[in-house]
Amino acid sequence: MRRKWHIVIWALAALFLASAAVYWRRDAESAVDCLSLANHGFHPIASIRTRRFLGKVGKNAAGCRGGARSIAYLASPWVDWQNYWGGGDSSSLGQRWTTQSQRGILGALTDLEYQRMELIQFNLFDNNKTYETYVTGSGGLPGALVKQWPEMRLPIQDPNYGNVGGNGAQLCWGQLIRFRTLSGICNDIRNPAMGSTHQLFTRMMEFESTFPDLGKDELARNRHGGRISLLQPDPQVISRKLFTRDQANPQKCAAGLGLANESADAQCDYKKANTFNVLAAFWIQFMTHDWFSHLEEGHNAPEMMPTGCHPQVSASRMTVFNNEDTTKLGCRPGDRVDKAYIADSNDPATFQYGGRNYLSRAYKTTRNNVTAWWDASQLYGYDETSRRRVKRDPTDMAKFLLVRDGNDVYLPLLQLGDPINLAWMGQEATAFPDNWNIGLSFYHNVFAREHNAFVDAFRAQTARTPDADCGLRNPTVPDKIIRYRDVTPDDLFEVGRLVIAAEIAKIHTIEWTTQLLYNEPLYRAMNANWSGLFGGDEELAGILKRIVSSLGGSSDAKANQLYSVFASGAGIIGLGNAKPEPDPAGPGRQKDTWDIRDPSDVNGGTNHFGSPFNFPEEFITVYRLHPLVPDLLEYRNLENDANVIRKKVPVVKTFRGLATPQIREGGLANWAISMGRQRAGALTLENHPLFLQNLPMPRLKTATNMMDIPALDIIRDRERGVPRYNEFRRQLGLKQLTSFDDFIDVHLAASDPQRTQQKTVVRVLREVYGQHRCDVSKTITDAQLNDDGSPITDCLGHPSGSMVDNIEDVDAVVGWLAESTRPHGFAISETQFQVFVLNASRRLFSDRFFTSSFRPEFYSNLGIRWVKDNGPDGKIMEKGMPNGHRQEVSPLKRVLLRAIPSLAPELENTVNIFDPWARSRGVYYSLEWKPRAGAESDPAFPH
Ligand code: HEM
Repeated sequence: MRRKWHIVIWALAALFLASAAVYWRRDAESAVDCLSLANHGFHPIASIRTRRFLGKVGKNAAGCRGGARSIAYLASPWVDWQNYWGGGDSSSLGQRWTTQSQRGILGALTDLEYQRMELIQFNLFDNNKTYETYVTGSGGLPGALVKQWPEMRLPIQDPNYGNVGGNGAQLCWGQLIRFRTLSGICNDIRNPAMGSTHQLFTRMMEFESTFPDLGKDELARNRHGGRISLLQPDPQVISRKLFTRDQANPQKCAAGLGLANESADAQCDYKKANTFNVLAAFWIQFMTHDWFSHLEEGHNAPEMMPTGCHPQVSASRMTVFNNEDTTKLGCRPGDRVDKAYIADSNDPATFQYGGRNYLSRAYKTTRNNVTAWWDASQLYGYDETSRRRVKRDPTDMAKFLLVRDGNDVYLPLLQLGDPINLAWMGQEATAFPDNWNIGLSFYHNVFAREHNAFVDAFRAQTARTPDADCGLRNPTVPDKIIRYRDVTPDDLFEVGRLVIAAEIAKIHTIEWTTQLLYNEPLYRAMNANWSGLFGGDEELAGILKRIVSSLGGSSDAKANQLYSVFASGAGIIGLGNAKPEPDPAGPGRQKDTWDIRDPSDVNGGTNHFGSPFNFPEEFITVYRLHPLVPDLLEYRNLENDANVIRKKVPVVKTFRGLATPQIREGGLANWAISMGRQRAGALTLENHPLFLQNLPMPRLKTATNMMDIPALDIIRDRERGVPRYNEFRRQLGLKQLTSFDDFIDVHLAASDPQRTQQKTVVRVLREVYGQHRCDVSKTITDAQLNDDGSPITDCLGHPSGSMVDNIEDVDAVVGWLAESTRPHGFAISETQFQVFVLNASRRLFSDRFFTSSFRPEFYSNLGIRWVKDNGPDGKIMEKGMPNGHRQEVSPLKRVLLRAIPSLAPELENTVNIFDPWARSRGVYYSLEWKPRAGAESDPAFPH
């Protein structure tokens, strides 16, 4: 008997070895590539801009991480990691019993980290007069390690000037460091003004490359050959030819107005995203209102300018539009708009360093009129005026006021006495009211409820343990324990703000972004940004966090890069919020010596990488995501067969004050399921909402009373000097395109209808932007060189004197919308993503409330738990293993279940709130559009 078993075991072992040999043979080629890659070591981080990595790897790395398929696309301009194993759906997974998928995914994470390190090194350009220090250094420190700037001091006219030290050394202290301040001052206690309301936007591009149409820079003049200006190529022509949604049945859409009585028979066609819903579209508008605004109280500058297209002759581009063309296109020559605010348009000062001339800032500057911090300022306010719109509950001032309407409670309306722009009358009261609509109304109501839920939980805890230490401390009397019952309503309101802001940041980082970029490498990267690569391993994360903190204090310039690498291991949240030291009470034990009295502890976890934090102008450009919005919203009823679309409500009929009756009559639950099930628009060309091309704007008092927002997206970027698409990519460390044909996705078969469609788009791009005869003697950039080390010229590698596409003139927004080659599951393009890689991390790295001040002293014990566990009831795990991961129930799902409990049965099947709710997620990052069980009759699915 025993002999028989031996034979079986030997037979099984032989079988295993034989199959391993087969698999090894199958993987042999890529394994050799891996050995060769290992022998050559890691690619060095570029020390000069022209040697950047560009997202392109060598043959060995490509072979090791993705085999022959990956090698096949090395010559394309697009980043290589998208072709590695494991980065797509299940068909991208490597051979079983090999390490191919792990190599692919880790290879992708490595490439992403290289990109982040190089972006930190080459793409920080502050406009606030600190750039010279960044280049030249200060007090013996290299500029990239400077941590404090005189330019970030509070000015004498600031009411807190005296409180932070006046004209002596400035340091925020006491009440000023306790909570997020209204205007955003004192987040960094040594740089009080950083990130506060009205600071200047920064840039991500060399200053000389900004405002190319001014013609101040020789390279820019060579690049564009006099072909571009504010209205050239014509923005409304671009909007009408390249942005318009094609309609199979235009009368059923009525330019986005739908049919009478919100009939469900209306139909506005749009290209749909399979894995991103309408809640995701409005979520990002809700976020951008927190991060940035060029407008002040809904206004731009007082001067007006024409923006509508009209008959024209353009000799340089050999394009003629006559009256007939403009009528066909839907030009509105009478359109006018208020000009963008410019903070400073005087010529910038220059300085010399290392034998080179530098500009000290961009040719013109603009202001961010809200706080740059992720502080939920759209809900809580960013200055005294906006705070006056925020209504508190007079019966409990710790809460938002919510008023009853029917069976539910909602935010109250703005009143005549409130500081408002008249266009906002009838809207719900909130700090940031501009461009209000049903989606914003939904989120503002949900998070007002969430804030109040936190206050209720705090009060319940107070009732249970009134004398217990709640964890909060007042830095003015740091030794005094604050008991639950000592907390005043005003203080609790501000604690609530800290908690809600952190919860929102968490939702955005690990829920919205992982659905926007729906693949495994990005799932891991975003979770690593928040809580570290090692998930629950607190000990390992703690060790890494200490290494990161010590790198933050290093005087070695390379420390910045290592800091970024180690931070993705440890997670950015809570960096520097603990200081373990040996505990004299017991050998081998440690105690946390972090001390609220020590400014270095309070502030020590932040890192600005040598450049004060604010958003760059280019960040706004890549958030011009208007195609996400459909024209008609498909309204459903939660209680009465959610598979039926009951009516189609035009988004424009929910604009501004019209949102209020819609949200109250429809109810939050029905709007949640309606926007949760409906797909967002795809971020591509020919997909802007028709209603936005014809948006009513009575405040402008123009002949047409309308604005073409897609055209305005182009104009605003030009007014603010955003470099055009190809230079935008070169400056970001991505490869340039050399013709419009590069926009065609060569992964698709030649006969694929999508490829045919892309060719049509290329033809229209050529028609709108034109071609010219190139001149090889004109160098057009200093951001990159050709592969052979020669300068990049007007001919982009084509023979001198040949006709080349005016790819250099393409507006950044047009270019990134035209990118059809994208990593798996990417709703956005790789160009937009490159901007996020830097800024999504920086807004966490720079904020002490997400790093060293992420502590109970500021958030309370309950607050810290609420953020970590996604609510008050401890961690709750999702069922199953979505995409192979044990995963917590997502933070927004927990918020919705608290705010709108009737959603529970529908959300039973939902893992990520931004994935269309009735879609079957299938296996491993499937993008298929198929109904989940129970939703088969939903007309949103093809039968
Ligand atoms: C009903 C939906 C929306 C309406 C009516 C709307 C309207 C507008 C208008 C009128 C402007 C122009 C402001 C100006 O420069 O004068 C604008 C700017 C902008 N919109 Fe939208 N929008 C909507 C949805 C969205 C969404 C979903 C996003 C996604 C992020 C978005 C992102 C932006 C950005 C980034 C700007 C530039 C803001 C700035 O310059 O500070 N919008 N929008």
